[in-house]
Amino acid sequence: METRLSNSAKEAAREIRKGNLAAFPTETVYGLGANAFDARAVGKIFIAKGRPSDNPIIVHVCSKKQITQVASAITPAAKKIISRFFPGPISIVLPKAKKIPKAVTGGLNTVCVRMPSLPLARKFIASCGVPVAAPSANISGKPSPTTCKHVMHDLGGKIPIVLKGPPCRHGVESTVVDCTKPVPRLLRSGAISLEELEKAVGEVEISKGGKAALSPGMKYRHYAPKAKVVIVKSSKSISKHQRHFAYIGFDVSKDATLSARPKTASQYAKMLFSFFRKSDAKKIGVIYAQSIAPIGIGRAVMERLHKASSGK
Ligand code: TXA
Ligand code: MG
Repeated sequence: METRLSNSAKEAAREIRKGNLAAFPTETVYGLGANAFDARAVGKIFIAKGRPSDNPIIVHVCSKKQITQVASAITPAAKKIISRFFPGPISIVLPKAKKIPKAVTGGLNTVCVRMPSLPLARKFIASCGVPVAAPSANISGKPSPTTCKHVMHDLGGKIPIVLKGPPCRHGVESTVVDCTKPVPRLLRSGAISLEELEKAVGEVEISKGGKAALSPGMKYRHYAPKAKVVIVKSSKSISKHQRHFAYIGFDVSKDATLSARPKTASQYAKMLFSFFRKSDAKKIGVIYAQSIAPIGIGRAVMERLHKASSGK
């Protein structure tokens, strides 16, 4: 299959209406979309990504009104999050509407909903005329794509179209919050920080992950480049004998073959997945990544680093 790279939200939306897939940009990472009401179309996502079928998919809406097509109830905590953070880099778990097939929710009775803030993403969803189920547009287990080039690299030849947008502003996936219980629970950290969430809704529980995790996707290995990822305090912690390595951190490593030097935690988040991909392209064996304070978006960065460095 030839994959078109298009500037037209309408052209990409046409594929969704035909029951096909279309990748599209958001302010977090690129998504791989299908009609959320069409179980057959959603099935194509799992095949293209090589994604385990018990990992549920976020449903994207173009307006607050459209949330009622996706969820059967909007809980008080959800109302607060919607009014404070929608549209934005945050997804909420709610009881699902009947029309949403189990293929989307991995068999769960809940659904995860997000309204992206990138205008092009909302224009695309509105042109589809239906809510759009979309995981990140990468091969399952790989770092999420933050440019249309990354999407082409992973899914070129497997999907009909990629809607071209700007490089993603945040570079890490949305914050995921379970809003089905009275006390909301943070399932995945993202650009909307725990501190901001607490300010908006009061108490927030924190999911510890593991087998009983409410966000089934978190049990899989994620965000991982081919290279081994090692978290270090600073570039000084890297062994002198180490050759041909990559380094990302606030300080400089003179000896690194490839390096990235973000100035802030937000820049770190924005560069991280792209840096993983660049390192793989250069066949780097080890990536050293400086640990940062787990506050604000730093929490999301550390969550990704821990995931990427585990299991190898
Ligand atoms: O920024 C993002 O969230 C991007 C863009 C495309 O929106 N999407 C994304 O999707 O990262 P994905 O599939 O890679 O991650 C979705 C996460 C997974 O950890 C999944 O388990 C969780 O959301 N999730 C989805 N539906 C859920 C549900 N009903 N209950 C609990 N967790 C759910
Ligand atoms: Mg993903």
